[in-house]
Amino acid sequence: MAYPPPQSREQDYPAAPSPARLVVLISGSGTNLQALIEACADPAYGARIVAVGADRDAIAGLERAEAAGIPTFVHRVKDFPERTDWDAQLTGTTAGYAPDLVVSAGFMKILGGDFMRRFEGRIVNTHPALLPSFPGAHGVKDALAYGVKVTGCTVHLVDEGVDTGPIIAQGVVEVRDADYEDDGEALHERIKTVERGLLVEAVGRLAREGHRVQGRRVLFST
Ligand code: GAR
Repeated sequence: MAYPPPQSREQDYPAAPSPARLVVLISGSGTNLQALIEACADPAYGARIVAVGADRDAIAGLERAEAAGIPTFVHRVKDFPERTDWDAQLTGTTAGYAPDLVVSAGFMKILGGDFMRRFEGRIVNTHPALLPSFPGAHGVKDALAYGVKVTGCTVHLVDEGVDTGPIIAQGVVEVRDADYEDDGEALHERIKTVERGLLVEAVGRLAREGHRVQGRRVLFST
């Protein structure tokens, strides 16, 4: 059997008028968000963050957004009767900002069907492992537990699976013996250093150039 399953889908996502509008979704410290905020300060980057959304309050990432004067919103799953209600609200609020791209930068919730249908092909996620290895919420710890010698990060388009969408870019980070001593914290920090550069580069190119999805491949349009 071919792995992954072959996909014949082909779809164009032309570049938006500059600057492209970004909605960034976060759940935590927001260092990837901060890297995007700094990149967007340069008009040549071709994108601006129109809103930052979160699934929880009192997180450093929201403070970063507020310090940069970016509108924020918080939708917590537990405040809705059903997860589909949360999904509908997240979709509606995000759509209200008319984003050209949605960036999931450390957003620790699986996006729902409404959200996927509304922004299909234009949602970017960053993951702290070399997909398809170690998907899910514990990419760094799972890689360590497996005993790999290299790991890294993956920037990819989001599809209906968990960390299964077409890959845009990957970066490699070596695992050191000392990484077993602190439960992967130092390793995650080294991954995040690579990840921030990779995400900024990928989002900038998607914004400025547009992209085409050809089966499992993401091709920049210029
Ligand atoms: C990043 O390493 C990101 O890849 C990871 O959370 C971190 C967020 O850091 N996301 C996941 O694990 C998603 N499965 P940040 O809040 O400092 O940007």
